[in-house]
Amino acid sequence: MANFRRFRPDDLNKLSKCNLDPLTETYELSFYLQYYAKWPSLFQVAEDENGNIIGYIMGKLESSPDVYKFSEHYLPWHAHITAVTVAPEARRLGIGKLLTEQLEAAGDAGNAWFVDLFVRKTNYKAIKFYESMGYSIFRVVKEYYGDHSTDPTQDSEDAYDMRKPLKRDVKKEHIRADGEKHEIDPTDVW
Ligand SMILES: CC(C)(COP(=O)(O)OP(=O)(O)OC[C@H]1O[C@@H](n2cnc3c(N)ncnc32)[C@H](O)[C@@H]1OP(=O)(O)O)[C@@H](O)C(=O)NCCC(=O)NCCS
Repeated sequence: MANFRRFRPDDLNKLSKCNLDPLTETYELSFYLQYYAKWPSLFQVAEDENGNIIGYIMGKLESSPDVYKFSEHYLPWHAHITAVTVAPEARRLGIGKLLTEQLEAAGDAGNAWFVDLFVRKTNYKAIKFYESMGYSIFRVVKEYYGDHSTDPTQDSEDAYDMRKPLKRDVKKEHIRADGEKHEIDPTDVW
């Protein structure tokens, strides 16, 4: 049985059940604290009965800087999933889905147009997870990652930029059916 609550700074030394997973990025400690300070309602954890963190989601609400307003890559007000992870022993129990639904609700509460995220092209399980929740590919960011998770001969990996429209996007204007055909460079992601 998991308990869901907001992240607290003293959770930082309890993330290893999740972060030892190779597909879970580990950031500088200050990066987690920035999210905690700026978007506390978008940083949620799931803990087990012993207080271990067995899942968390970290996100933000933002738009591209105004200077890019007229660029085709400009991102309007949206929620972004920076990280979502569930400890291996706690997977397929619906914890990832519940965490993501909480972030989507925060996005709706903040009047965001959509939720987006980046996922490695070969992270098939996570792609299936997002698809099961209504996310679809919006574009491909070429060589977004500076390493490859499955092929050691490659020094980079493409990302899928996936999106799910929120309630504000009544006409579904912020998603694409042919997202896989739209490729951009990492320098066009702000
Ligand atoms: C992706 C991840 C967060 C999913 O968390 P989870 O708690 O296991 O997911 P849920 O139990 O909520 O799954 C919801 C649905 O997603 C789909 N799904 C989840 N994991 C799946 C898998 N391994 N294969 C296929 N479909 C999957 C299923 O449709 C599932 O519903 P079901 O179990 O009733 O069939 C988890 O696998 C994880 O932490 N992976 C490593 C980190 C990672 O890749 N994060 C994403 C980086 S972008």
